[in-house]
Amino acid sequence: MRSRPRRNRKNPFVRGVTAEAQLGAERLILPLFVHEAGEDQAIDSMPGRFRHSADGLLREVDSALEVGISSVVLFPAIDDGLKTPLAEAASDPEGLIPRSIRSLRSRWPEITIVTDVALDPYSSDGHDGIVASDGRILNDETIEVLCRQALCQAEAGADVIAPSDMMDGRVGAIRDALDGAGYTEISILSYTAKYASSFYGPFRDALDSAPKAGDKKTYQMDPRNSREAVREARADEAEGADMLMVKPAGPYLDVIRAVREATSLPVAAYQVSGEYAMIKAAAENGWLDERGAVLESLLAIRRAGADAILTYYARDAAFWLAEA
Ligand code: PBG
Repeated sequence: MRSRPRRNRKNPFVRGVTAEAQLGAERLILPLFVHEAGEDQAIDSMPGRFRHSADGLLREVDSALEVGISSVVLFPAIDDGLKTPLAEAASDPEGLIPRSIRSLRSRWPEITIVTDVALDPYSSDGHDGIVASDGRILNDETIEVLCRQALCQAEAGADVIAPSDMMDGRVGAIRDALDGAGYTEISILSYTAKYASSFYGPFRDALDSAPKAGDKKTYQMDPRNSREAVREARADEAEGADMLMVKPAGPYLDVIRAVREATSLPVAAYQVSGEYAMIKAAAENGWLDERGAVLESLLAIRRAGADAILTYYARDAAFWLAEA
């Protein structure tokens, strides 16, 4: 036997120099939920995660910064009374998201604030787009609202706009809207390959944003497909996206790899709420070692080709990495 792969695993040094993928806090982005109430409120299906009050948000970001997480993405839990069919609240300059951005920005000018562009938190129908009377999701009409939402976030001080709605052509339209208003330095992180996934359940609990009727299959991608992800990647790149995202992450590692190979743009992946909930539940039952399972799941996403990872475990992972 001349070839013995085990020789390259024989001690920590040899394993270290032969390691292909690395994980570091600088790769991680922390998604956070905000609401209007004065107290943080625990999210039942995501133990350890909260809908944050204005003060709670600052505390949470402070503790993330302490372990080296310097980027967050914000999602709003909007009061039911503000949700409408046309999601007007999405572009209210005094809304929850613009206020949250301003408060973070004034405290920490240097952090990277990512904002989500889609109508579902603001839609009385619980859809990412405008719903017609026959139930269809209206693509081009939705894009106009998304552009207003993106401009509102840009004006408040967002660094990166992340459209998660999956309407056709929205990246180009948002790029034009931003450029037209002089926001040429604001980046677009496109949710390029976002699947119609069952793993978003806990997120929809957190925001109370589940569709009132139907599902998201006419706009989010079919889990059976990966060539389609490459098609979406080419379109987003041509429309001026700065970074592309695959979501969910763990069950779609092959898609991360396919998008990685189809583009020279940076690729991000979103370890979504259901992926968090699965590891958390198993860990709380004593069935999995949480630290090991989380770091392995994130490393696998890096190995598949993701440059950046959005994960609810960002702060814990950064803490564990610093400890190691
Ligand atoms: C909606 C949006 C969703 C997530 C991020 N943006 C849910 C959905 O499409 O229904 C899910 C994130 C998660 O599950 O952690 N625009």
